[in-house]
Amino acid sequence: MSDLLVTKPLQTILAEAEEKGEHTLKRALGPANLIALGIGAIIGAGIFVLTGQAAAIAAGPAIVLSFIFIGIVCAFAGLCYAEFASLIPIAGSAYTYGYATLGEFFAWIIGWDLILEYAFGAATVASGWSGYFLSLLKQFHIYLPPQWIATPGAKMVKYNHEWVQLNTVNTLLSKAEISRLPHAAGTFNLVAFFAIAVITAILVIGIKESANFNTAIVFTKVAIVLVFIGLAAIFVLHHPHVAAANWTPFIPPNKGKFGEFGWSGIARGGAVIFFAYIGFDAVSTAAQEAKNPQKDMPIGILGSLVICTVLYILVAGLLTAVVPYTRLNVADPVAVGVQATGVVWGAILVDAGAVAGLGSVMLVMLLGQSRVFYSMSRDGLLPPWASAIHPRFRTPWITSIVVGTCVAFFASLIPLGDLAVLVNIGTLLAFVIVCAGVWVLRRKRPDLPRPFKTPWVPVVPILGIITSLAAMASLPATTWYRLLIWLVIGMVIYFTYSRRHSKVRIALASEQGVPSSQSSK
Ligand code: ALA
Repeated sequence: MSDLLVTKPLQTILAEAEEKGEHTLKRALGPANLIALGIGAIIGAGIFVLTGQAAAIAAGPAIVLSFIFIGIVCAFAGLCYAEFASLIPIAGSAYTYGYATLGEFFAWIIGWDLILEYAFGAATVASGWSGYFLSLLKQFHIYLPPQWIATPGAKMVKYNHEWVQLNTVNTLLSKAEISRLPHAAGTFNLVAFFAIAVITAILVIGIKESANFNTAIVFTKVAIVLVFIGLAAIFVLHHPHVAAANWTPFIPPNKGKFGEFGWSGIARGGAVIFFAYIGFDAVSTAAQEAKNPQKDMPIGILGSLVICTVLYILVAGLLTAVVPYTRLNVADPVAVGVQATGVVWGAILVDAGAVAGLGSVMLVMLLGQSRVFYSMSRDGLLPPWASAIHPRFRTPWITSIVVGTCVAFFASLIPLGDLAVLVNIGTLLAFVIVCAGVWVLRRKRPDLPRPFKTPWVPVVPILGIITSLAAMASLPATTWYRLLIWLVIGMVIYFTYSRRHSKVRIALASEQGVPSSQSSK
């Protein structure tokens, strides 16, 4: 058992972080790029889609409280990520932190688990992106065939001249009305596939190009969020009685079931909108591409988290003030909010902003995934092709293309809801391991120079662990079963391939004069 817990020496990790040359990642990112990378990953489907749905079915105007509570959970984890990212500035993020502190087996588990966050996260957002893209095309009277805009078997009906998923209209219509509408079934979500293919091409071409693309989009989407905040705030100032009525009661009474309004609704709303916060940790995967990671990593992680938390609380509060929460269970709640202020051009603006904004979320998630695979491959836990760097573009191009292809298929074949819950549980598990790692390393190596220190250790890591586990506990049992199946598949790969090829293990065996094949027995 103890050899499963072999750790990668910190000196080796830090020496790898210092490597230079054409086979290494390019250090091109400054603090502004890193904050933009974080905001690029954070603001996306969560705020543009899930906030309205969570307010309508779980929390009402008190969704604002859900955002505050989940913001605090993420702050605990963010502080722990910031300490690690400045101390161990390497592309593997939580995977490498686990390797340095808890041992190879935990490192593998976390690396495998991060696929749920990054690869499935990108697929989830691609699925959401296709919805907003179709909505934008509709503004120009362009409609695509139903078979090519939905996952296999998804039931589609033609309603108001456009093909929509049956579950988005079945509360509006009676069964008889639905049976009279033309029907079709989805075959393959080609729109989501296309989105991932384009983003993958950008990632292969270069980190600087990817960061510039991301920064341009981040400005657009933050501007659109600010436009919404501005329009909604002006509306509230002019119509305080409407806002007061929409916010009364602020916490709608529980309807008799856990999670349907009241305090349990605030908790359920938090579990849903947790997705909106995912992404600040992805900044840490760019550590080997940062010019000055020791100083800038904490700025990128915590800066993006703070900015997004403030924007989210404002959007959630104003959205529920301008529109009664009961009307927010729609695919484009922020656009509905703008329309309620009487500004008709606002909906197109929000649709366009969401299309661009979700693009950068996919970009950063795919970037994170390929960098984690890169690190795992350099450690021998994945085959060497996964860390091959393109000599001209200086990006891990093969792994980017393999990841992009798999994610494109996930997005086109698996429904959004099934993907999203797996992303949430996978990310929370990563938070638990990172918080535990900070605490362990403080005890094992108190001497290390830490450019950024998490305050109040062990209180903050313990609170991070407890709150993340509590959020995991609120997810359905089926999500837990899927997580376990995923981890079992990972363990089969670990014991059949990774353990035998682990460079740390091979080095250890040669130091002890044991053939490496025996060391893995
Ligand atoms: N936080 C990201 C989003 O909301 C994943 O889309």
